[in-house]
Amino acid sequence: MTDSLAPHVVAPYVRGRFGAPYLYEPECESTQLLLLGSGLPEGAVAVTDHQTGGRGRLGRRWEAPAGSSLLVSVLLHPPPERRLPELSLVAALAASDTVEAATGLSAQIKWPNDVMLNRRKVAGILSELSDRTVVVGIGMNVNQTRDELPADTPTEAGSLRTLTGVTYDRAVLLGSLLDKLEQRYESWRDGGLADLYGEIGARDFLRGRRITIDGEAATALQVLRDGRLEIDIGSHETRVIESGEVLFAR
Ligand code: BTN
Repeated sequence: MTDSLAPHVVAPYVRGRFGAPYLYEPECESTQLLLLGSGLPEGAVAVTDHQTGGRGRLGRRWEAPAGSSLLVSVLLHPPPERRLPELSLVAALAASDTVEAATGLSAQIKWPNDVMLNRRKVAGILSELSDRTVVVGIGMNVNQTRDELPADTPTEAGSLRTLTGVTYDRAVLLGSLLDKLEQRYESWRDGGLADLYGEIGARDFLRGRRITIDGEAATALQVLRDGRLEIDIGSHETRVIESGEVLFAR
């Protein structure tokens, strides 16, 4: 499917503050680059139908065939009292809201930044910072077929289509994502992670799972109220992790 997220297609579904201005390129290197250092106001959004150099976390690439997924970046100016690493969880919560509203299924958040549906990663978040400006990039696998998903990812990828058999209208989904991100972001901005913690905790994919974190075996205990991950490293010893690459046992 090669529909487009051009402004006139998306405008009927963008209701709030997020999405103005709306920067759209049919193809670009990375939507992150359209916003980083741009000086644009909070809520500016960059969208494309195809990235030639899509960025993932930890220096990885993020790839999807043209017109198959959501590739969106949002510019934010969080207040100084907020811890910026929490933003990835806030965006993951908004992406999981969007997936749940579209599919009617429960989505989970795999700390720190992945959205899972039926044990497959359907969305990832990349937050990049310059000064106090954060560009939050969200990649959501929507209409890819099984063959179009990357095979060599640390967490197995799925798309909404491979997991439900349904093809989705990406413009509707994008409108929903911007709406939910605005709501979740404003709750966090005004009340901190405490206001979202119940819903993040309820979607905690790793809780109780055997994991490796940066190569070390452990059991994930929980995402804490400050957004860090508590793990059990054995012999009744626990540790709190700020960031890292978590792999889970199936
Ligand atoms: C990850 O899980 O590694 C994060 C992936 C983030 C991908 C999105 S797609 C839109 C935005 N532009 C990019 O180049 N990356 C993010």
